[in-house]
Order: sequence, then C-alpha cells, then structure tokens
Amino acid sequence: MSKVHVFDHPLIQHKLSFIRDKRTGSKDFRQLTNEVGSLMAYEITRDLPLEEVEVETPIQVTTCKRLSGKKIVFVPILRAGLGMVDGLMNLIPSARVGHVGLYRDPETLQPHEYFVKIPSRPEERLFIVVDPMLATGGSAIAAINSLKQRGVSNIKFMCLIAAPEGVEALRLAHPDVDIFIAGLDEKLNDHGYIVPGLGDAGDRIFGTK
Ligand code: PRP
Ligand code: URA
Repeated sequence: MSKVHVFDHPLIQHKLSFIRDKRTGSKDFRQLTNEVGSLMAYEITRDLPLEEVEVETPIQVTTCKRLSGKKIVFVPILRAGLGMVDGLMNLIPSARVGHVGLYRDPETLQPHEYFVKIPSRPEERLFIVVDPMLATGGSAIAAINSLKQRGVSNIKFMCLIAAPEGVEALRLAHPDVDIFIAGLDEKLNDHGYIVPGLGDAGDRIFGTK
C-alpha cells in the first residue's frame, strides 16, 4: 500500500494558513503556493539516489555526491497544478514538465480529460503529479491512469490540501503511488469541496470566478 506523508513543518503550516485565508488575493496566493511547492519538493526528493563523482576543488581532488538514476518530471494537473510548478522548478531546474489537462464536471464531479503531453522515454523517469487539491480523488486517479497508459511506472503525487475521501480513493486505485500532503482536512461538502479547504484553487490562482 502507498505511504501517505502529511507535512507538519512549521513553515509549510504557516504559509498554508495564508493560502486558506479568503482575504489572500491571487498574487499572494500564487506566490505562497509556489513557496509551499518548493518546501514540499525538498522533502519529496529526500530518497533520490546519489552517485559518487570526482571533483577537483581549487585545493585538491575529492569525492562528492551527485544525483543519479531517474530524471524527474513534474506533471501539473491543469489548471490549478500550474500554480505550483515555478516553485518546484526553482528547486530542481533540470526537471522536465509534462501536462495533464482535466476538469471536474460540477454536477457529476467526474473528471474529463482534454490534454496530455509528457516527455519521451517515460519508463526512465520519476513522475511527480502536482495538484493543489485532492478532493474526491477522481482527477488524480484519472491523471495517473493516463500516465500509466503511456508507460509511466514510477509516480508520486503531491497536493496542498486533501480530503480523507480522496486519499482513500487514490490509495485504493493506485497503491503504488506515495502521496504527499501539506494539510489533511476534515471532509468533503455536498458540492465536493474540501472542508475547511481553501475554496476553488484554479479560480484563486488565476483570478477567475
Ligand atoms: C480542481 C483541482 C483538482 C480537482 C480536485 O480542478 O485542481 O484537479 O478539482 O477534485 P477531485 O479530487 O474531486 O477530482 P478543477 O476541476 O476545478 O479544474 P481547474 O483546475 O481547471 O479549475
Ligand atoms: N477543487 C477545488 O479547487 N477545491 C476543492 O475544495 C475541491 C476541488
């Protein structure tokens, strides 16, 4: 079964409190979302494999460690996932970016896919799927299904806020995918919104409404 990591780091919790606040406007919301993305990426990449390399300093030759193994691909689920990508790329500028476009039907809450583009040789890479919200889990499950159909096998999922219902559904559908969450909330309301949550992430990032 997948592992679920809920971040209790004070900086993440501090920034999340401003992200949740309805008085926070789009500009600050975007900045904070990216900052939390960077802090989370730091932890998510903790187990990346290293290899020894020889480096010549101005003083002498020494042995250092560099990342080895699978190259990282961030995959934001459009639209709202885009709000975390800059923060992630600040930390890992050499990462590639794939995209999965999905929207959730407001009546049925079912995800509808409209766009997918990922780098070549997906089997050689670690994919980190990014979305601020894990509500029913439908969008994350569909995005990961789509990646797996294209040959992706090594996947992690990260979000700002999750509902327990979404975490459960995602773990059942994809037990091989570890989940990283900044805030685990109480429940979903009748409209499929996370309670207390932060409202509609896409609207708050892009100023639509
Ligand atoms: C939001 C959010 C997730 C999805 C979560 O996207 O960014 O992708 O809802 O809900 P779920 O877990 O119940 O599927 P939305 O469909 O509103 O699209 P948007 O990002 O384009 O606004
Ligand atoms: N999508 C959002 O943007 N917010 C929620 O609370 C649930 C789904």
